[in-house]
Amino acid sequence: MFVVLLGPPGAGKGTQAQRMVVETGLLHLSTGDMFRENVKNNTELGLLAMTFMDKGELVPDEVTINMILDRISRQDAASGAMFDGFPRNLIQARALDDALDDRGNAISHALLISVPDEELILRLSGRWLCRECGAVYHEKNDPPEKVGVCDSCSSDLYQRDDDQADVVRSRLKTMKPPSDLINHYKDSGLLSEFDGTRGLDEVTADLLGVLQL
Ligand code: AP5
Repeated sequence: MFVVLLGPPGAGKGTQAQRMVVETGLLHLSTGDMFRENVKNNTELGLLAMTFMDKGELVPDEVTINMILDRISRQDAASGAMFDGFPRNLIQARALDDALDDRGNAISHALLISVPDEELILRLSGRWLCRECGAVYHEKNDPPEKVGVCDSCSSDLYQRDDDQADVVRSRLKTMKPPSDLINHYKDSGLLSEFDGTRGLDEVTADLLGVLQL
């Protein structure tokens, strides 16, 4: 099963992917997490990606596509993966389709989570993440038991640089799934749409229902 998760920044893609991989056993591949890991390790890719992420812009397609295709060529992605934050446009979607097709695989589901802008802004400004394990929290909607500490691994929580108000405004303009990407999956009969304003557990149940789990 190869699943793509689509939605604007703050829709809940990362949160729901973390929940669904527990149920499905799928490999979670987040391009945002991969870029942030490279930034943390000061790699050449990280330094390049940072110049775009800091402005709330897409990292160039060629760079992103090469990174994800390299990642899915590994053995642990042989039988399935859940893509979170990829593809963001039709060029990326076609590159993924072609790479999967070359090895006899295909996308099985495209799950689109929708949330209005005003709610997205509240979510991103209140988001906290674990430095170590990447667990996602929200100071009001999904708080950790102890402020600033991860429930899962007791490491420090932090706020992302690109969750600053000015960068969020730019991300909300540039990072929403474009209509040709949505139509690509709609026309293939793969698209399911979800109301991301429902509670965390309800959204998880809705998504898993489509995956028939
Ligand atoms: P990325 O990390 O993918 O950022 P994004 O798409 O902007 O998505 P977010 O991680 O901000 O939001 P999310 O939908 O995962 O929401 P979350 O679950 O955390 O990408 C970062 C950057 O990398 C991009 O800006 C770009 O520069 C670059 N990049 C990445 N992919 C790329 C690509 N393919 N091509 C080119 N460049 C790329 O939830 C948000 C908050 O809401 C949390 O606090 C959570 O607790 C809360 N919440 C979630 N669901 C609910 C709910 N149902 N009810 C209440 N609260 C909820």
